[in-house]
Amino acid sequence: MIKDPDQIVSRFGSILFDTIKRRLNIEDKIWVDNIEALRKDLSKDKSEVIITDFGAGDSKSNRSDSEMHIGQVGRSTIAEISTASKSPFWSLLLYKIISEFKPKTALELGTCLGISSSYQAAALTIYSSGKLLTMEGSSSLVEKSRENFTYLGLLNIEVIEGRFSDNLHKVLDDNQPIDYVFIDGHHDQNATINYFEIILPYLSEQSIIIFDDISWSKGMKTAWKRIVGNHNTKLNFDLKEIGVCFLDKQRLKKRTIKI
Ligand SMILES: C[S@@+](CC[C@H](N)C(=O)[O-])C[C@H]1O[C@@H](n2cnc3c(N)ncnc32)[C@H](O)[C@@H]1O
Repeated sequence: MIKDPDQIVSRFGSILFDTIKRRLNIEDKIWVDNIEALRKDLSKDKSEVIITDFGAGDSKSNRSDSEMHIGQVGRSTIAEISTASKSPFWSLLLYKIISEFKPKTALELGTCLGISSSYQAAALTIYSSGKLLTMEGSSSLVEKSRENFTYLGLLNIEVIEGRFSDNLHKVLDDNQPIDYVFIDGHHDQNATINYFEIILPYLSEQSIIIFDDISWSKGMKTAWKRIVGNHNTKLNFDLKEIGVCFLDKQRLKKRTIKI
């Protein structure tokens, strides 16, 4: 892949290689070490918070549209919640994608405690002077993530509180064009396709959209197939856990690479 004649494919191949090898310069390492130290602290934090989950639950929950809209209220420890964060490997891959392709305006759906947001915002700070808009439905997590961003000294993040469906249009209207999107919440087939279709017209000429948990359930596999089949997603990488789509209005040929 690294030697592929297609520039984007070879650049993506190098990113993957560097992520697997954990290749970091001094500045990268400082940020990554700080975020991972925070993750460690959160994983030991037994304090309880009340969360409202507007997502799909686990892969066997089969929540109805109205159940997801109303949200499921529950109590959980920070330590338990922290397990929903993307792992160090996948978080570093997001960091590397941003450092290579340098988006200016990035959007995340699903903040949680802010671990993946921190990786992405750190890369945006160093490599593109860009900003991250991140959306979260649970008020307690909005508060916690904001504390975490302040603690890490990340100033280029705006957290938007509320259901994705209530805020997405306004966030897109106010911040277009969007260069990069990471969808890591509400892993429901129709919801995922719907967010993708809402976001599409707001993307810049060359943009990246990343979907988490594309193999998580039958519905998410179907959603991923639909997204890959859309004429706008010109180059797609299926990494089994996440899917990365490159959209380029000038590019004619479509290609999907399974890794
Ligand atoms: C898997 S977690 C995000 C993890 C985070 N990206 C990370 O790696 O650190 C998904 C988050 O999305 C939020 N969420 C799910 N569905 C939502 C919806 N429909 N509207 C708003 N927030 C939602 C949940 O509350 C949860 O905190």
